[in-house]
Amino acid sequence: MRSGLVKDCLKGGDSCYSGVYIEKTDWLIAGKYCAGQIIMQIIMERRIHVTGDGSNTLFVPELNEFYHSAKGAYSESMHVFIDSGFKKVAEHGNINILEVGFGTGLNCLLTLVEAVNQNISVFYDSLEPFPLDWRLVEKLGYIHIVDFPGAEKCLEILHQSSAGTWMSLNKLFSFRKNIVKIEDARLPACKYDLIYYDAYAPKAQPAMWTPDKFLKIFDSMRLNGVFVTYCSRGQVRRDLQNTGFEVERLPGPPGKKEMLRAIKR
Ligand SMILES: C[S@@+](CC[C@H](N)C(=O)[O-])C[C@H]1O[C@@H](n2cnc3c(N)ncnc32)[C@H](O)[C@@H]1O
Repeated sequence: MRSGLVKDCLKGGDSCYSGVYIEKTDWLIAGKYCAGQIIMQIIMERRIHVTGDGSNTLFVPELNEFYHSAKGAYSESMHVFIDSGFKKVAEHGNINILEVGFGTGLNCLLTLVEAVNQNISVFYDSLEPFPLDWRLVEKLGYIHIVDFPGAEKCLEILHQSSAGTWMSLNKLFSFRKNIVKIEDARLPACKYDLIYYDAYAPKAQPAMWTPDKFLKIFDSMRLNGVFVTYCSRGQVRRDLQNTGFEVERLPGPPGKKEMLRAIKR
């Protein structure tokens, strides 16, 4: 028996298929084949979808979920992660960020642009167990929504770089991709200033929104570190509070009444 990452995209119109063979015991690391028994194969179709502000996102039919808000992918990323998260911690100077659910890399690209504009040094760590094929990401056209020389090369590096290794995109911005689920990740203690929690919504993936995940994240954050998410569900807010966060309800991005920002006190 053999196992491995399915690297080839089987293209059909605007959709793309990619898949991962799940091992009984080991997780795949950086697309290398590991020995072990195959117990199942996941094939997730992802379709390109134009959102309300004209920027693209991906739709996952099996989950009936989008990667970003259907009302506006760019608007949501800017509002939730940059304006409500990055700008809140920007005064600290050197910022350690963890993104849970790296996906298309849109949040990361927007953070890179903001870091360079504000001359802030960033170490950007990310968790993503199901990396996307670069050929699909390219089609999303994110390089055209930012005004940043070299955006295409930077976005390609984010997606094509080896997992587990820090890469410097320029003198201000370093990035590391970790192909791992949050539940299996070993996070450092008291390190991160800012968390981008960008999992699928609780109705699609409830396991991403449980108190044990929040405690793991809380322990990995510095005092006064900031956690932001587009999700505003009452149970999520209460679980964050019970974990020890001070939680604020902020106005949401277009089409959403509220979002959450939580601070480690
Ligand atoms: C809402 S999408 C993320 C959108 C992403 N931040 C972007 O800008 O494209 C959720 C992401 O979480 C990833 N994911 C799924 N299960 C996960 C897990 N157990 N741990 C971490 N990430 C997970 C998915 O593969 C997907 O890329």
